[in-house]
Amino acid sequence: MYVPDKVLTNAYFESIVDTTDEWITTRTGIKERRMLENGATSDLATKAAEDLIKNHNLKPEEIDAIIVATVTPDMFFPATACLIQERIGAVNAWGFDLSAACSGFLFAFQAGCSLIESGQYKKVLVIGADKMTAITDYTDRNNCILFGDAGAAILLERSEDLSLGLQDFILRIDGSGKDKLYMLGGGSLNPPTKETVDKKMHYIYQDGKAVFKVAVKGMADVSYELMQKNGLTGDDVAFLVPHQANMRIIDATGERMGLSREKVMRNIDKYGNTTAATIPLCLVEYYRDGKIKKGDKLVLSAFGAGYTWGASLVVWAI
Ligand code: UT7
Repeated sequence: MYVPDKVLTNAYFESIVDTTDEWITTRTGIKERRMLENGATSDLATKAAEDLIKNHNLKPEEIDAIIVATVTPDMFFPATACLIQERIGAVNAWGFDLSAACSGFLFAFQAGCSLIESGQYKKVLVIGADKMTAITDYTDRNNCILFGDAGAAILLERSEDLSLGLQDFILRIDGSGKDKLYMLGGGSLNPPTKETVDKKMHYIYQDGKAVFKVAVKGMADVSYELMQKNGLTGDDVAFLVPHQANMRIIDATGERMGLSREKVMRNIDKYGNTTAATIPLCLVEYYRDGKIKKGDKLVLSAFGAGYTWGASLVVWAI
């Protein structure tokens, strides 16, 4: 994983917009987030990949594919995956970027597992990385307090033991959510012009209240449905690994699943919403702290722009 050094505290936001530490903490659970001052999403992702390569004694040439979940690619093209491939020396890999906003990592994880299951690939690198500060309007108090920058990576490997790894999933998209959370400018619909800049169309727009309602229901329902489908109770699940958008959404999902608080991964207080990076960031932190063990059942769960949402049941394999 990689998070930049620069910390933006709630006190900092009190100094730039009309807000308070109390409002941010009680409404979102966020205390701090990180900002990458120089560089782009590929820098966050490359540093995360290098961290994984070092800690897992992985040879870059062994990587068969690289999937990068992001909504803040360095450029429209080439894909961020290509930029990372070159920098880490993954000379035998192919790869691509995947756009599913806050569900990006969950969708990329599923795509990576499918590559492994096809039998054609042995090692797939899945990265969630976003430089959200690049598309955040720091005069908009509704949104600027929410987002931060980070990258985190996991390695999927082939195993003969089918009781390990991805066991089941439910993933969904619903385009009727397109008007609630988006960035309008810069694409083929609204190519960049002076007007798109003046109208602030290159920033995140979110109808927070509307998204909150569907996110809280969507994430809790899909996580519970996945448990039911697999005959699991709260006792069977070691951890919920939820997308970190709002502490209230995280808590509601954990409660619906019948999980005690310590079984719900959270680091939103330190990093805010890092979009595609939130779930792998939690996984890496909890794993390194010795909290996840081989055989633990994890439910990964997310909700994001699109709408996109879903949950995956994973048995931790190392
Ligand atoms: O990650 C992808 C998916 N996204 C999400 O899951 C985010 C979902 N939405 C949320 O997490 C929450 O809706 C927010 C955190 C964005 C907002 O929380 P809320 O409890 O829904 O607040 P609100 O938008 O209903 O606003 C309540 C009040 C408003 O004032 P009035 O109209 O009641 O007078 C806002 O203007 O809070 C005001 N407000 C603020 N006050 C202080 C909005 N932002 C701020 C702020 N500081 N930063």
